[in-house]
Amino acid sequence: MRVLGASGFIGLPLAQAFVLIPVIGETSKPSSWLPLVATLDVVIDAVGGQDIRMLSETLLNTTAAAAQKHRPAHASKLTYIYTSGTWVHGDDQKEVKTDTTPIKGPVELLQWQPKLERMVIQSSVLNGIVIRPSLLYGKSASILAPLFRRAYEGKFYHLTAEKATIVAGLTIDATNDFTESVDDILQNLVKVSGAKGPYEYAPPSTPLEKAITATTLVRPYLALGWYPRKPRLIDGLEVYYIAWKGGEGL
Ligand SMILES: *[C@@H]1O[C@H](CO)[C@@H](O)[C@H](O)[C@H]1NC(C)=O
Repeated sequence: MRVLGASGFIGLPLAQAFVLIPVIGETSKPSSWLPLVATLDVVIDAVGGQDIRMLSETLLNTTAAAAQKHRPAHASKLTYIYTSGTWVHGDDQKEVKTDTTPIKGPVELLQWQPKLERMVIQSSVLNGIVIRPSLLYGKSASILAPLFRRAYEGKFYHLTAEKATIVAGLTIDATNDFTESVDDILQNLVKVSGAKGPYEYAPPSTPLEKAITATTLVRPYLALGWYPRKPRLIDGLEVYYIAWKGGEGL
């Protein structure tokens, strides 16, 4: 299997879970690894960064083209797992979303993402699957970094890759089904960190900050028997906070 973006927050633990032999290559210069698609089972896009829209679309196109060119005619389709996110469900405090709820209003930052999800699952060349993790937490803290910077386990991707032929063409929300309010999280964080409360909200000034304030109620049902084994964010907050501090050398 190949994980593109194997140094990142999802990709690194994922690569560790799969025990991969690393192929170092620039995702933006795929010539070093593309010929490998001839013999691969699965490619997972977990790239991040500023220009993920262009990068992910280019990766999808070049991988599809390479699969067509390099794979023998009788070979099964190459499985391609694209990492999206539950932000495509948008900011909605009322309606509960599932994996199959039609996407209507993604957060502003990710207006482009539903189209890319469709390109993946509708690919005629690849066995396309979309996984949508929600907010990630633990270790170095990912998107919560400005707040108290967080981990993810490769387990879910592993299950998906193993069952790739069954779940081909599916989009799967990878979230727990707890509802955790930002207020509860912040109140607990004040307690856990010993910060001087009370907390206050600053108005969001970038599309990313706006996305972080979005609320989505997700109740996934397609998740292949996968279930997060970590405590929910509020229950485990002290541990997550200490883990982040340790990672920062604080
Ligand atoms: C990817 O392929 C689609 C469909 O052929 C095309 O519309 C799109 O412009 C391509 N995007 C990139 C970045 O190459």
